[in-house]
Amino acid sequence: MKLRILKEEAIDGALNKKILGCLQKAFPDGVLNFKESRYWHGSVPAWTVLLEEENSIIAHVGIVERSIKAGTDTIRIAGLQNVCVAPEHRGKNLSNMVVKASMDEAMRLNIDFGLLFCIKQIEKIYACGGWKTLHERTVVRVEADGREISIPEKNIVMYYPLVKKNFPEGNIHLQGNDW
Ligand SMILES: CC(C)(COP(=O)(O)OP(=O)(O)OC[C@H]1O[C@@H](n2cnc3c(N)ncnc32)[C@H](O)[C@@H]1OP(=O)(O)O)[C@@H](O)C(=O)NCCC(=O)NCCS
Repeated sequence: MKLRILKEEAIDGALNKKILGCLQKAFPDGVLNFKESRYWHGSVPAWTVLLEEENSIIAHVGIVERSIKAGTDTIRIAGLQNVCVAPEHRGKNLSNMVVKASMDEAMRLNIDFGLLFCIKQIEKIYACGGWKTLHERTVVRVEADGREISIPEKNIVMYYPLVKKNFPEGNIHLQGNDW
């Protein structure tokens, strides 16, 4: 297995297509979303972690870098986007391997926290990797036309301590769209 960390500029058309293929297989309900773009709600990852075996991608995570507001604090975060493991490779904790590598890289880049949104059923996967759930926080995202919308309450919000250890109190404003 080979682990690679690639800046967005280093992902050429052929590799983009290959990652899209991996995402389509991993998120069968979301095939339409991954026809041309990996960028959920237009949020572009700064870099991507790939785990490859025999020239195919078996695990992926994109990282969106952003300065956001939490309460009155401005913090720099590494947002997890499109975490996935190819269906035939699940159950081996490979998601933790790419996520951990992404957080090591974020630490090297002096980022304050990791931040992710997920469904309740997979909260445990991240919790096992050291992620902590933020309870009862309003999280506001900004649409392309400037409208501000709260993300659904059923979404679980989790952070990973990096340069900073205690996530600031208060509501979260993503200063852009979610990822
Ligand atoms: C989530 C994912 C990356 C985890 O990969 P993994 O590290 O190999 O872990 P597994 O797939 O074995 O899942 C671990 C546990 O979570 C559960 N799980 C994973 N995805 C789930 C889902 N969408 N709904 C309900 N449970 C889920 C598994 O059933 C398993 O439960 P168990 O430990 O009780 O058997 C992988 O399942 C995947 O690619 N899913 C599709 C894409 C996705 O939902 N990504 C997350 C975006 S936040």
